[in-house]
Amino acid sequence: MEHIADTIRKLKKEKNAVILAHYYQNLEVQKVADYVGDSFGLAKEAMEAKEDIIVFCGVHFMAESAKILNPDKKVLLPVPSAGCPMADMVTRQDVLALKDRYPQAAAVCYVNSSAEVKGVCDIACTSSNAVKVVAGLPNRQIIFVPDQNLGSYVAGRLPEKEFIPFTGFCPTHHRITVQELLEAKKAHPGAPVLVHPECEKQVTDLADFAGSTKQIIDYTLESDQKEFIIGTEMGVVDYLKDIQPEKTYHVMSQRLICPDMKKTGLEEVLHVLRTEENEVVMEPQLIHDAYQCLTRMMELS
Ligand code: 13P
Ligand code: SF4
Repeated sequence: MEHIADTIRKLKKEKNAVILAHYYQNLEVQKVADYVGDSFGLAKEAMEAKEDIIVFCGVHFMAESAKILNPDKKVLLPVPSAGCPMADMVTRQDVLALKDRYPQAAAVCYVNSSAEVKGVCDIACTSSNAVKVVAGLPNRQIIFVPDQNLGSYVAGRLPEKEFIPFTGFCPTHHRITVQELLEAKKAHPGAPVLVHPECEKQVTDLADFAGSTKQIIDYTLESDQKEFIIGTEMGVVDYLKDIQPEKTYHVMSQRLICPDMKKTGLEEVLHVLRTEENEVVMEPQLIHDAYQCLTRMMELS
């Protein structure tokens, strides 16, 4: 494994490439990345990247956003089938129908959505900035796609807004139950419960903190507590054990694994660096349409 990692590091320099990885990636992949982050941090890094090639270790909508924000770069997604099932739950037609029905509403899309959807939305958001983004909009009515759980989390914090929710959800976070949370609390009394807002409202309501992957990580770094219950994908626990081994992390459920995020291994990273295959290719018009939606979010954050 170390041999592959060394080859990747060497090739990355030779080809003037940068490797970006999400916290949910396998730890071996996180270790060869130049930057590991949440969706917002990764989008910002991609937008500011100076290298010729961006190897995006994550899922498709993330690599697509990198291409939209920095279209002159070659963006490579090591495993093209690594998608986000939640992003596939909403279509451009769904958004257009909602806009027809609620003409006064602003259309907000979670960044976990396709470029086609972004192209017809007013602004994007991530889990780290969703409340700020929606609060900053002049419209009272808010169409929020695709995540029903992030939507209700934001709606709960902004009672002055009227939310028109959608039905999408993250299969990994949505399956976490209140019972699992209560069992984890019982097993580890006193440990704060930190969850992702993609969990159901009943779960988020019982947590001590809800936030993006980076915000969860920062909570543990800034806290005096020594033990935490983590309600997001396992990769965050792997990351935390690696950077802060003196503290203890209990994953709320063994089912907190995103199969798409776990498709990428070192072999796939090396393969795309060598061959430059699996490039994210998009029509210029699609990039143009989706650009505004993402850059407005960047400006408001
Ligand atoms: P973050 O922006 O919190 O990293 O979330 C990305 C994601 O896909 C969560 O499931
Ligand atoms: Fe999509 Fe959920 Fe996987 Fe995140 S964890 S990429 S929202 S399926």
